[in-house]
Amino acid sequence: MEFIEKLKEKANQSKQRIVLPEGLEERTLQAADVILEEGFAEIILIGNAIAIHDEAVRLKLRHIDKAAIVDPLNHDKIDTYINLLVELRKNKGLTKVQAAELVKDPLYLSVLMIKNGDADGEVAGADNATGDVLRPAFQIVKTIPGISVVSGAFIMVLKDKEFGEDGILVFADCAVHPDPDAGQLADIAIASSMTARSIAGIEPRIAMLSFSTKGSAKHAMVDKVVEATEKARSLQPDIQIDGELQVDAALIAAIGQKKAPGSKIAGNANVLVFPDLQSGNIAYKLVQRLAHAEAIGPVLQGMAAPINDLSRGCSVSDIVNLVAITANQAAGKSK
Ligand code: ACO
Repeated sequence: MEFIEKLKEKANQSKQRIVLPEGLEERTLQAADVILEEGFAEIILIGNAIAIHDEAVRLKLRHIDKAAIVDPLNHDKIDTYINLLVELRKNKGLTKVQAAELVKDPLYLSVLMIKNGDADGEVAGADNATGDVLRPAFQIVKTIPGISVVSGAFIMVLKDKEFGEDGILVFADCAVHPDPDAGQLADIAIASSMTARSIAGIEPRIAMLSFSTKGSAKHAMVDKVVEATEKARSLQPDIQIDGELQVDAALIAAIGQKKAPGSKIAGNANVLVFPDLQSGNIAYKLVQRLAHAEAIGPVLQGMAAPINDLSRGCSVSDIVNLVAITANQAAGKSK
């Protein structure tokens, strides 16, 4: 928790405007109340003001009156957002009538607010599936220039301080892009290095993981990881990266020296990039459950604006924590 407290302290310095599209969802409203009391971000709730007020009274919340509330069916920027959406999706043939329907959807409205400069970041997903949260973000804010895909990282905080950076590691992609090609995997590595610096506060040493170490096995899946490692190096010559590495060679010095002699990353990695979503998603859940690690995220990376997706099983504190992360991403972007 110390990790999140530091993020809240940092967020408190710039008080970013975070929009919560699920403004009537119980845990979201309770989280908004906590954030408004702690004061580390400004909160914009999407929903009908009277309905939000009534729900806040029912839940005995005391700080919701400090939130800005935007009613998706009745606010003064409806036409601005319709025109913006038509302009952004004109290549896809989106009509004004279709755009007018979409802007009533809180998930589209929130992303349009960010695109128009009316909010700095978004957290959603307590009530909506990952795809429904991500699709408007992909369509409207898109990726950072030079990064081809959005991916999802977890900051893993281990009880055993021997691994990573004092027990902190970044795992990616664990949440978004099912089957990246070599170029996309290189971009996931680069985006993970940004997350490592800006959110985990560590200087990244990236291991590109495989079931092979330095040619110990031959397979097209291994070739993809080797190619991705080379691409990442050519895109960012200063990046500290090595691959392909098995995870034991990446994490344990004696094994790293034996399997990948001379590698500066082997035995010393603090960012683990998985070859596909199946391995990344399985790995973070294994470490979370079997090693009782704290798994903070998913932190969406590579997106041109900070938008993060919750699990529908999230707790109030999960939402508060993800708002703290999102506010830090937004503060990093505005610098
Ligand atoms: N990064 C950036 N843009 C993307 C990405 C990506 N990773 N994936 C799709 N897009 C864009 C497309 O280019 C397209 O843009 P366009 O409309 O401007 O042309 C748009 O998004 C829609 O693309 P589709 O291919 O139709 O994407 P779809 O909506 O079908 O799927 C999704 C995207 C929902 C994210 C899908 O990849 C997915 O389901 N991923 C797995 C999510 C998941 O279930 N994760 C595990 C659970 S999370 C957890 O355990 C923590």
